[in-house]
Amino acid sequence: MTAIPSITLNNGVPVPQLGFGTYKLPAEETRDLVLRAFEAGYRHVDTAQMYRNERAVGEAVAASGIPRDELFVTSKLNNAFHAHDDALAAFDRTLEELQLELVDLFLIHWPLPALDRYTEAWGALEEIYRSGRARAIGVSNFQPNHLRRVLDAGTVVPAVNQVEVHPWFGNEEVRAFDREHGIVTEAWSPLGRGRVLDEPTLARIADAHGRTPAQVVLRWHVQRGDVVFPKSATPSRIEENARIFDFALDADEMAAITALDRGERTGSHPDEENRTDR
Ligand SMILES: NC(=O)c1ccc[n+]([C@@H]2O[C@H](COP(=O)([O-])OP(=O)(O)OC[C@H]3O[C@@H](n4cnc5c(N)ncnc54)[C@H](OP(=O)(O)O)[C@@H]3O)[C@@H](O)[C@H]2O)c1
Repeated sequence: MTAIPSITLNNGVPVPQLGFGTYKLPAEETRDLVLRAFEAGYRHVDTAQMYRNERAVGEAVAASGIPRDELFVTSKLNNAFHAHDDALAAFDRTLEELQLELVDLFLIHWPLPALDRYTEAWGALEEIYRSGRARAIGVSNFQPNHLRRVLDAGTVVPAVNQVEVHPWFGNEEVRAFDREHGIVTEAWSPLGRGRVLDEPTLARIADAHGRTPAQVVLRWHVQRGDVVFPKSATPSRIEENARIFDFALDADEMAAITALDRGERTGSHPDEENRTDR
């Protein structure tokens, strides 16, 4: 397999541009599927307290035999823990669940603007960062107005903003804001949860390259400079999704995929997600 390139975060830490998403993987299969991804060449795995699978991810890391410094592990602060002390305690539990001494990236999962404690949570993440137990910190689902407040209140610029991006939802305003502030955009649900894959435009481009629509979509993301971590519980797709670094889309193909944008999210709008019970 062609090597997976890395992107350098604003603090110098490299992140592999392709990772493995773990949201909604079947609990009893998560460990084996993450191991499968490592075998297919992935070195980056995206989990979260909310996914309730940090332990299985940690077991896969331990069982893989891959040196820890060759792996990139991300987790995220759950919505119930924005208060400073709660965030610190929740982070300790993340390390315990993962059985790791540090994570490579730790994010605030949702801003929860109605609760309005995300700048407090950011203060806790800065402490975690300074302690050396997270090599980088960032946010997820932050709109520019949320990010501006973090930039004003904090001393560390978030290294990433993990937000929904796929051909039906380009999220261009947020991506532009991230870019202007040296924040790497990570595209969640990069395949639109599989729903975008029947687009005829994708079939046409896939045929022209002898690839699948999923490979074409993932290639589009990486050529745009975003980080992606498609999720699949299907071993053949896990491998397929990693074979995207040995072909390239031309400018017309890139533009045709970008033109599929119809402003359609598969998940919550960040201003409307206010659940603290999961
Ligand atoms: N920060 C956040 O708020 C947030 C929110 C959502 C997601 N995420 C992260 O982003 C990751 C990816 O997003 P996602 O899981 O929502 O959706 P996704 O990766 O866009 O799509 C996953 C779906 O696509 C299917 N699929 C995968 N590869 C395929 C292929 N090659 N051909 C056809 N179908 C394929 C999968 O089916 P099978 O599994 O049946 O193969 C699954 O139904 C998550 O796992 C999570 O780590 C973060």
